[in-house]
Amino acid sequence: MTTKITPDTYRSYRNLPPLAGLCTLAQAAKPGLSIEACTTRLKEIHYALKRLQEILTARITSEPIYELKTGFAHHAHLCAEHADALRTRVGEMREPPLGLEAVPHPAWEIFFDEILAARTTEELLVGLYDHAMPELHSLMFHYSEDTNPLTDAPSRRVLRFAMLEVEDMIDFGEASVDALVTPDFRTGFHEWEELLQNCLKAVDGKIPVESLERQYSATPYVYDPLPKRDERWKDQWNQGVNAEAFLYDENMPAKAKALMMLFKRIREVDVPEMMSSILTQTKGKPSKYYRDMTRQMWDEARHAMMGEVGFVALGVDWTAARITFNWSMRLNTECTPMERHAVLYFIEQGLMPRTGKRYEWEVAQESGIPLMATIQDFDWADEVLHAAIGRQWYIPEFGHINKALEYGDKCWSKITSNWQEVREKGLTSHENWWPALYSQACKAWGATADAKALAFATTYDGKRADLKEIHAD
Ligand SMILES: [Fe+2]
Ligand SMILES: [Fe+2]
Repeated sequence: MTTKITPDTYRSYRNLPPLAGLCTLAQAAKPGLSIEACTTRLKEIHYALKRLQEILTARITSEPIYELKTGFAHHAHLCAEHADALRTRVGEMREPPLGLEAVPHPAWEIFFDEILAARTTEELLVGLYDHAMPELHSLMFHYSEDTNPLTDAPSRRVLRFAMLEVEDMIDFGEASVDALVTPDFRTGFHEWEELLQNCLKAVDGKIPVESLERQYSATPYVYDPLPKRDERWKDQWNQGVNAEAFLYDENMPAKAKALMMLFKRIREVDVPEMMSSILTQTKGKPSKYYRDMTRQMWDEARHAMMGEVGFVALGVDWTAARITFNWSMRLNTECTPMERHAVLYFIEQGLMPRTGKRYEWEVAQESGIPLMATIQDFDWADEVLHAAIGRQWYIPEFGHINKALEYGDKCWSKITSNWQEVREKGLTSHENWWPALYSQACKAWGATADAKALAFATTYDGKRADLKEIHAD
């Protein structure tokens, strides 16, 4: 007598894992969601990722706390990557035109509008990580449970990877809420949290959308372009130490140059502050534009953190340096998004010749600090990628690289030196902080300071906003 074939009794050849290892036969033998139900739900998830990317990006500039600025840049990148993967997946499900730009539900829109408009860092953190991210995770989880693991294996794969990173983001967010949001403070915005939860109920059809009353988004959100930093970042108009002049001075020792490069790295926190404004104020580009530019923004945040790590590894307190926000402040307030992109491209293009990133890597190797070589090696690779991103998204606006560079140079020249002006206004005295920082490093190294390096006192007086990566002339 033969055993009746059922999904539970069916055996694969010599008990090999069935179904290419996707799931059990019983799991695959249950019907799942229809393509229509799948695309509807994936679009809802895609919309959430896209909105989170936008919110995290938009809030980088005005967020004072450095750990959050860099965290937001990271998470914006992760959301952009997963949104892109879902977009591709939806496109595989008989869905052209994709309809991915549509708002899946009005209450879902209010939910994200409210978080974007959060009045404080605390509310933003709670909105993002205690409400939005867990909801996003739950949508992904339930989709994966409900869909057929064989027929819809490609979607489940995309979501499985996404859930891993959403979990990481929630961990970061919960730890940040624990560190920064006191229960007392939180009671102050209890009503707002209730509104967020009601939005989710409305999305589920449990309450009518009409019952929702916008709070922080009652007046539309306005992007704040002014870079803010926490209290560790002092004297932010200071342009008293010309890092490039030092770096390209043949008389300076490589180890001291390595220290100056770490300053240049951590100063790069101004790039996410500026790219946030380009990304937020440039509308209507293809989704890959936002994905690529967000990747670049995250890389620049990472470069700043490489500087932070380098200082700590060398036993140096980086807060002794004066890390200016002059560049992001001026570009964000004096240039259009297109002009900012032009300046960014112009500067990054200047890093490609032998005197740019390769030189920094060579100096790093020469410094005898192995970590420095690692940092500059990857920094260089990232900048090559950024030049490619510029070729993809910036140059086509002009049709030709020369025209694009010319425009970038012109925009950059618009930012004339404000060295005298900020001093006259009493915003800074351009204190030369370098000798103190260098002495501190020498002490940590147990080495005597080089007399020439110690005496360095070249400022950015008369130079463009600051020379950034451009070779000092
Ligand atoms: Fe960079
Ligand atoms: Fe870059």
